[in-house]
Amino acid sequence: MHSYKNIPQNKMARKNIAAGNWKMNTSIEEGVALAQVVANAQRDKETVTILAVPFTHIYPLQKKIKSSSKVFLAAQNCHHKNSGAYTGEISPSMLATMKVPYVVLGHSERREYNHEDNALLALKLRAALDAGLKVIFCCGEALEIRKANSHISHVKTQLSESLFQISAQEMKNIIVAYEPIWAIGTGETASPAQAQEMHAAIRAMLQKQYGKRVADNTSILYGGSVKGSNAKEIFSQPDVDGGLVGGASLNATEFVEIINAF
Ligand code: PGA
Repeated sequence: MHSYKNIPQNKMARKNIAAGNWKMNTSIEEGVALAQVVANAQRDKETVTILAVPFTHIYPLQKKIKSSSKVFLAAQNCHHKNSGAYTGEISPSMLATMKVPYVVLGHSERREYNHEDNALLALKLRAALDAGLKVIFCCGEALEIRKANSHISHVKTQLSESLFQISAQEMKNIIVAYEPIWAIGTGETASPAQAQEMHAAIRAMLQKQYGKRVADNTSILYGGSVKGSNAKEIFSQPDVDGGLVGGASLNATEFVEIINAF
């Protein structure tokens, strides 16, 4: 049985979430095999596991993962319109029709390589929520911003120009992921104290915008070089409710260790 005795009261209101972000990796066969190991290994029924997979993998994975498992799929992006002349894009309603529950929006790689700014992300959020998707909304600062000690105000701007355009009611469909860019794929992790500082700051912003109930109920994930060996310490911080995991989610043993770190 999972023990809640050391978990602060307000943390109990939130779900523990381990989300894997496969990015542009794995063949369909490799992805199916990986997802099956993850689905079979999931021990704690209170923990939600999400796999953010390439679009091409969604249908094959849906057919292989038992609907009774606590493993849910996410797309890694969607367009801000539901249809039209946008070659190569996938719309929120297409994902909803496929019954994909989640979509990741605002990942730093898309902000950087696809020039997605806060205004566009506000449109994407609107479209995704209107289509009935839940959103894992990513934010986080680059190294120069952290060095200049502007990381909290940077994240505040990211949230206020995108996320805070939605209503308090809609926040139940949002998971926030804080991912310092300097820790993504670099092997360098934010210290538990650095993660906690930002997560507490984000929760305070949520409280100011939407009130205590929303702030207490919103899961905030940490992302950036989470591994089996550091997950426990990071997840035990009072305002960290899980992780968004890139590289380590491609290794079944590592990712299962992360799922079981709560
Ligand atoms: P990483 O990636 O775990 O490989 O650092 C995290 C992410 O980009 O979501």
